[in-house]
Amino acid sequence: MSRPSTVLLTGGAGYIGSHTAVVLLEAGHRVVVVDDLSNSSEESLRRVRRLADGDLSFHRVDLRDVEALDAVVTGAGIDSVIHFAGLKAVGESVDQPVRYWDVNVGGTIALLEVLERHGIRKLVFSSSATVYGEPERVPIDESAAVGATNPYGRTKQAIEMLLGDVAGSSPEWHVVLLRYFNPVGAHPSGDIGEDPNGIPNNLMPFVMQVAVGRRDELTIFGDDYPTPDGTCIRDYIHVMDLAAGHLAAIERIDSLPGCRAVNLGTGSGSSVLQVVAAASEAVGRPLPHRIGPRRAGDVPASFADPALAAELLGWRAERTLPEMCADAWRWQSQNPEGYPAG
Ligand code: NAD
Ligand code: UFG
Repeated sequence: MSRPSTVLLTGGAGYIGSHTAVVLLEAGHRVVVVDDLSNSSEESLRRVRRLADGDLSFHRVDLRDVEALDAVVTGAGIDSVIHFAGLKAVGESVDQPVRYWDVNVGGTIALLEVLERHGIRKLVFSSSATVYGEPERVPIDESAAVGATNPYGRTKQAIEMLLGDVAGSSPEWHVVLLRYFNPVGAHPSGDIGEDPNGIPNNLMPFVMQVAVGRRDELTIFGDDYPTPDGTCIRDYIHVMDLAAGHLAAIERIDSLPGCRAVNLGTGSGSSVLQVVAAASEAVGRPLPHRIGPRRAGDVPASFADPALAAELLGWRAERTLPEMCADAWRWQSQNPEGYPAG
């Protein structure tokens, strides 16, 4: 075990950040969250405090407000940062590219300015397998070409390049770019989970909203892909495994100088139909679904080669698809409308 440290979580009230906060607190680290709550609720952090003892503070700050961020960091004794904050909806990024570049890239630049002022040089960044675009082969390892196919993905790619340049400016920088595959599931208590605004874009929250009666049926986007059952294959990873991956990155970061990209995935893929079957099993009844047309931009198959994460971080995903569905269902059934407003 490494010594307890103080970790700044940007976007820490969100889905992945709140689960990571629990895991960091349980490991004895102090957590400082900055979040503007533009896509989250402070209720997630109240629940984090109930789930884990320890020192968690929250500051409602827009990352792009350099002076407000500076005031949070001043005197807080921050050792390292996990940078989750950002916008993440692919379709929205096509309609609002300037907003996406402003929040994602502009927010990162503002963060880096403050970190430079305070001599904080250890950073873990939430990147995405979306940077691989249309992969030449699966499983995808980190040497695969990057080439995102939408504005959201290009902001991730641009931030990766920016952080590479920053790490190249001084040997004191330690940067880990975590490329997540498809995070799903919830804390096993069912107290915190994924709470998307509006109609979910992603498969698991949509399936869970069908299960809880908020939506009538799932539309499966295409069953004519070159895969065994014709539906797309993805590497779904339990959010608690992902959280453990962040803990591992923070605890190993001193031995990881420079800037490196690391996949966080399970290494095995599931089709949309397999997810629907596993979710039906977890819920205890069939879930209505129909086949619709393909969704623009979907690749037939994407799953990780997770070997580098095992080597560098000593981390492996452990939880199965049935566990992901059972935990997602516990969260959704206990919180049918997500977090209460306010
Ligand atoms: P999320 O929306 O639940 O969390 C992001 C948080 O950032 C939210 O709480 C939001 O309020 C906050 N935020 C947004 N703009 C901000 C700003 N200007 N200042 C301060 N806070 C701001 O999303 P998530 O699923 O937890 O994702 C976290 C990170 O992981 C994101 O960077 C996302 O792009 C990345 N990622 C997510 C997925 C996924 O499928 N969930 C996959 C790959 C990568
Ligand atoms: N799908 C459906 N119906 C739905 C929603 C999704 O059939 O209502 C299908 C999609 O077509 C795809 C699969 O379910 O085949 C998974 O779709 P998601 O939207 O859940 O996930 P994606 O792999 O398309 O994208 C996600 C995130 C991106 C991230 C990427 C990383 O949305 O932000 O994973 O690989 F970049």
